[in-house]
Amino acid sequence: MKKLFAVLGDPIGHSMSPVMLNDILSFYVIDAHYHPFHVSRGDLETAVKGLKAIGISGFNITIPHKSAIIPFLDEIDELALSIGAVNTVVNENGKFVGYNTDGYGFIKGLEPYISSFTDKKVLVLGAGGAARAIYFTMAKMNPQTIDIANRTVIKAQELIESCPYETNSKALTLEEAEIHLHEYDVVIQTTMIGMYPNISEMPISLRNLSSQSLVCDIIYNPLETQLLIEARKKGATVQNGVEMFVYQGALAFEKWTGIFPDVKRMRENVLQQLGGVKC
Ligand code: ATR
Repeated sequence: MKKLFAVLGDPIGHSMSPVMLNDILSFYVIDAHYHPFHVSRGDLETAVKGLKAIGISGFNITIPHKSAIIPFLDEIDELALSIGAVNTVVNENGKFVGYNTDGYGFIKGLEPYISSFTDKKVLVLGAGGAARAIYFTMAKMNPQTIDIANRTVIKAQELIESCPYETNSKALTLEEAEIHLHEYDVVIQTTMIGMYPNISEMPISLRNLSSQSLVCDIIYNPLETQLLIEARKKGATVQNGVEMFVYQGALAFEKWTGIFPDVKRMRENVLQQLGGVKC
């Protein structure tokens, strides 16, 4: 029987997951369909019950339901529980089990550049939901240091204190991050600053950036944020948010099918979809 996969969110119309995942399902000749469902906050519990009743094989959760879904699942993986957000659910013999592939998706995207984090000094810009997934997952990789800079510095401090994994971290203001920027090997921008339509905005100045550093932005619209444009001008290596998006989807696909998919094909698919966005 044809299997069903889905993504639940609100809004959901602009999600690139359905086209990316239906393409990769058919590439591996898996008899399945991946469907976007618009689910509002108040309908989430009913929607999850309905998906269980029809025996869905697995689904993704996107904004604004990544935390709200937790009480409606049967089991939550340890990392997802500590992050407090689930983006992937697997139907394991009738039980809905929640995982978070966002952080590992981000880290897998760095594999061409970084094989071990133990000698790396990492700076995370922002302390919201995306920063939390990346920070907690990265903490498991034992980086030499992983600091967090945020406009509201207390939120960065809270994020550090809530991490269940041992870290060598401090909370910084954005101004402190600017001053000490040359000390970091990896800089990860997790806020919405620089996203379309505010494409000229940057969270911090890069005047002290080292040309040896890797600068990542989780934004993919535009493909190159002002931060990445300036980092590249300074000689740094840059990476945009397409990799994290592609790899979180690849890891979800692997959980559902046991196959780690052709990431190059998925990336090309996403870039084609992004060809239609205003950058
Ligand atoms: P997400 O879940 O997508 O990460 P979020 O939880 O709303 O989003 O977090 C947004 C992040 O962007 C926060 O770190 C926020 O800083 P504050 O904690 O100080 O609010 C940051 N952010 C948003 N707008 C900003 C701005 N204009 N300048 C600096 N930081 C900003």
